[in-house]
Amino acid sequence: MDLYEHEARELFADHGIAVPEAEVVSLAKEAGPAAERLGGRVVVKAQVKTGGRGKAGGVKFAADAAAAQLTARQILGMDIKGHTVRKVMLARPVDIEAEYYVSFVLDRAAGAFLAIASAEGGMEIEEVAATRPEAVARILVDPAEGVTPAKAAEIAEAAGLPAATAPVIQALYQVLVREDAVLVEVNPLVRTTDGLIIALDGKITLDDNARFRQARWGDTETDPGDDPLEVAAAAKGLNYVKLDGGVGVIGNGAGLVMSTLDVVAGCGAEPANFLDIGGGASAQVMADGLSVILSDPDVKSVFVNVFGGITACDAVAEGIVQALESVQLTKPLVVRLDGNSAARGREILEDRAHPLVQQVTTMDGAARQAAVLANAG
Ligand SMILES: Nc1ncnc2c1ncn2[C@@H]1O[C@H](COP(=O)(O)OP(=O)(O)OP(=O)(O)O)[C@@H](O)[C@H]1O
Ligand SMILES: [Mg+2]
Repeated sequence: MDLYEHEARELFADHGIAVPEAEVVSLAKEAGPAAERLGGRVVVKAQVKTGGRGKAGGVKFAADAAAAQLTARQILGMDIKGHTVRKVMLARPVDIEAEYYVSFVLDRAAGAFLAIASAEGGMEIEEVAATRPEAVARILVDPAEGVTPAKAAEIAEAAGLPAATAPVIQALYQVLVREDAVLVEVNPLVRTTDGLIIALDGKITLDDNARFRQARWGDTETDPGDDPLEVAAAAKGLNYVKLDGGVGVIGNGAGLVMSTLDVVAGCGAEPANFLDIGGGASAQVMADGLSVILSDPDVKSVFVNVFGGITACDAVAEGIVQALESVQLTKPLVVRLDGNSAARGREILEDRAHPLVQQVTTMDGAARQAAVLANAG
């Protein structure tokens, strides 16, 4: 799960990293009083889970409370790379002398964490990394040793950051480890004109597998995005992503679904979605999945591609039959069952003899059929 900047800011503060005083509002009329409390002059910052907010006009200075309200009104509702701005953070401005970049990321290949740091932080960091990679230091951190004061000093020195950043680098690593993050990034980490080191912007990605032991996020919604079908699917706990085509796809296992998308595309049709119903594939999950896919007006046909493993095909077939009781099928459904108990599963569907359901025994053949139906529909 990615955190919003204001959530990252809170975690930084919890771990002793200096951050600017700030407030979050979702209505423009709340921005004025909030700015007043912060001293009048503020930076108004769009809270969206994507980068490049500044360049998109989502980070603006306001000279006083009245200006803050107007600026908040401009930024709220703005679209930044497909993300609608629903909240803005108002932050007390600081006088910047230098902007740095510091991050820690899990490096799976190395089996370690990677510290990335640069003395040329700020909004052009991607440009710096692309054109002058030598300006960006990369140092592996052995997770068994962690970031000691000596290691933090080494990272700061390699990147050309002042020694005063070392304690912040160490604290940032604590955020990574203690909060179960796979990425923490501060850009910019600044040195103010009076010599303070302050984190002005933060990005944190938490490890979803560790969520059970991070109680504070227990009831935080994972951001389902703006697509109403994705919101509905997320509410049902489905692993669903909306795509642009006309063939609805349901499969068991992310790998199988990914290859199903490829095969459908190879048959001259575009998939309408990714939907992995996982290992269980109960009747309820099948019904939930079908109802989400069928409510997508772009869907012209549905391809259910199941390879029976621990969940046998007869259980999946029963699931489809039961789903047909609760979901009104409005589009043709092509089913391919293979693997464990495939023969029994096919029999169950044949006995049900639904006029809109047809079975094809191979993945290629079924994809072709679903593509033909979608292109005709
Ligand atoms: N509290 C602040 N005081 C002074 N300047 C600020 C403050 N917050 C941000 N800025 C300035 O605005 C720039 C952009 O802010 P920020 O890094 O938060 O947005 P961004 O980098 O465009 O967003 P993202 O990191 O999502 O791409 C910073 O590099 C900094 O120069
Ligand atoms: Mg930034």
